[in-house]
Amino acid sequence: MIEVILREAASDDIPALHALVESAYRGEASRAGWTTEADLLDGQRTDPEELAEIIADPAQALLTAWRGEALVGCVQIADHGHGIGYFGMLSVSPTVQAGGLGRRLVAAAEAELASRFGAARVRLTAFPQRETLRAWYERLGYRDTGRTLPFDYGNPRLGLPLCEGLHFIVMEKEIA
Ligand SMILES: CC(C)(COP(=O)(O)OP(=O)(O)OC[C@H]1O[C@@H](n2cnc3c(N)ncnc32)[C@H](O)[C@@H]1OP(=O)(O)O)[C@@H](O)C(=O)NCCC(=O)NCCS
Repeated sequence: MIEVILREAASDDIPALHALVESAYRGEASRAGWTTEADLLDGQRTDPEELAEIIADPAQALLTAWRGEALVGCVQIADHGHGIGYFGMLSVSPTVQAGGLGRRLVAAAEAELASRFGAARVRLTAFPQRETLRAWYERLGYRDTGRTLPFDYGNPRLGLPLCEGLHFIVMEKEIA
């Protein structure tokens, strides 16, 4: 397990957050990790404006993991109401993946969703094509709800699709 300090993101962290998320999710840099969206989507995963909106929203937050001065991981948390918490934008620097940080960030997200928003159930969404990622979430206790959500092909802020039929599966875990 790599040693990190976890803390909530502030607006000064946005440039580092943007670089981290893009490097983990998309493009050639992401292929150094064990799982990536690079075969499904090109273009951006996020942008500084979205990150600023999340940080400014009292119903959301970004938890960050630091190794010294280097940002090596992050996860977005959000209150979806009715005791449901959501996490997304889960990112670990491709150079330090498979060292246990992803699992630690998921645990931190679950704990924060429970303490901050009173979440009893945690939700995430994932592309079904990413079978090794889905298997990992299952090992973390998440189950496929059978529900799906559409991918918005008309919004380039979400990325530039490289295939047809993209959609998300919804996975959930009881934490109470
Ligand atoms: C998903 C992600 C956050 C995981 O971070 P991480 O630090 O690698 O996670 P961990 O080290 O805690 O766990 C890695 C798991 O993958 C497994 N793994 C490692 N290499 C693997 C491989 N080549 N194939 C399949 N599984 C593999 C490990 O055994 C481990 O499983 P375990 O926890 O059951 O032992 C990271 O890969 C990432 O940032 N990916 C790109 C962004 C992304 O896809 N985010 C999720 C979108 S829904």
